[in-house]
Amino acid sequence: MMNQTLTMPTPEALDALREAVRTEMSPGRFEHTAAVEEMAARLSSLYCPEKEPILRAAALLHDLTKEKKASEQEALCESLGIALSPTDRLSPKTHHAKTAAALIPTVFPSFAHEEVISAVRYHTTGRADMTLGEKIIYLADYIDESRTFPDCVALRVCFWSAHPEIMEMEERLDFLDKVILLSFDMTIRALLSEGAPISPDTVSARNSLLCAKAKRKI
Ligand SMILES: [Fe+2]
Ligand SMILES: [Fe+2]
Repeated sequence: MMNQTLTMPTPEALDALREAVRTEMSPGRFEHTAAVEEMAARLSSLYCPEKEPILRAAALLHDLTKEKKASEQEALCESLGIALSPTDRLSPKTHHAKTAAALIPTVFPSFAHEEVISAVRYHTTGRADMTLGEKIIYLADYIDESRTFPDCVALRVCFWSAHPEIMEMEERLDFLDKVILLSFDMTIRALLSEGAPISPDTVSARNSLLCAKAKRKI
């Protein structure tokens, strides 16, 4: 169950969570997780310093179940009451966002904050009308410093070379949307080239950013 009354995680609580998460995953996955945490902290300092502890927690938890096999993910979805559509079943790599989010309240109840859970839930696909916290974890996962995939490197360079830190907040927020929109274009192009299905949440996420962009121009 989500809990909106939880207090901000303390540095000590985050240290304990980091160690608990480390034991749940391979060294390689933990290296990525730690890099996402650092990128989430950097992005928080630009956009919402008050949310940094919450977003560090979300980053630490985002790939909690990533290393489970497709069959284990499906079994976990079944046991957690997560319905999978036929399209979902064609994209097993997206299951871990659902299972990780669903496990937080029972496995790490002191981090079952609404913003942690939703940021974990939508970190792979995005969704329409993403919250700032969801956008930060989504982007941190795409451009963390451990990523060497060409699209990720290109997006990381695109983001930081524009110097968002010297932008006014309104421009900085628009720029965040612009970079996330680019990431959806990259993801959709890659999925098309593989003949893979595209999550309806990703299509909705991209469309909602396009609508927000059109509204800003009015
Ligand atoms: Fe992930
Ligand atoms: Fe990840």
